[in-house]
Amino acid sequence: MQIGSGLEGRLWTFVGGATGKWAVLRMKAVAGSTLDPVAAVEVLPGEPSPPSAGCAWRLRGVTSHDRYVTRQEKNNLVAIQPALGRPEANHAALIPIRKSAAWWALTQDERRAIVEERSGHVATGLKYLPAVARRLHHSRDLGEPFDFITWFEYAPQHEAAFNELLAALRNTEEWKYVEREVDIRLIKTI
Ligand code: HEM
Repeated sequence: MQIGSGLEGRLWTFVGGATGKWAVLRMKAVAGSTLDPVAAVEVLPGEPSPPSAGCAWRLRGVTSHDRYVTRQEKNNLVAIQPALGRPEANHAALIPIRKSAAWWALTQDERRAIVEERSGHVATGLKYLPAVARRLHHSRDLGEPFDFITWFEYAPQHEAAFNELLAALRNTEEWKYVEREVDIRLIKTI
């Protein structure tokens, strides 16, 4: 499905295939089914058309407004979160995630309570800034196979810290609602 205009700067397509700026180091399904193995990922603004030769899969997502953060949390994030594209941050993680029907049946206040009050997602994540740069893409309302496409960039010396953060998040109440998660690690080639 082609998405209409009005999403300039917000719509991103992650193309898994034979070639791309980001070479795949490893890829594993953490929950649910995996994606076809690919050699590289290209991150493209908008929706390229037609699909490039050698493309195995395409995942689309849009950046959006915050759902859960309080003003104080947002201020804390904005004060220290780095931009993507830092030359030293040549490692990346692309982690598409789908949450369960039970998650989407919850109300906004119930989801906020799980994400932050009971799982400490933002409080924990903040401890790993500015080492990790991030961008969250929403895919659910685009009819995509995942609800979110998460993208993180870090320097190689911060990989262990990033893995520690992931382990902590995967141990939370929030992650009980994650029914599909694929962890793809990449290194920038150009
Ligand atoms: C690097 C530190 C991190 C910080 C500072 C951080 C911060 C945040 C914030 C503030 C939100 C909520 C945005 C809103 O209000 O709508 C969010 C959502 C999310 N984050 Fe993180 N995060 C971090 C790491 C991670 C990691 C490692 C993952 C694992 C893949 C992850 C997965 C997600 C997902 C899937 C959502 C969407 C949740 C939903 O809307 O149900 N985050 N993150």
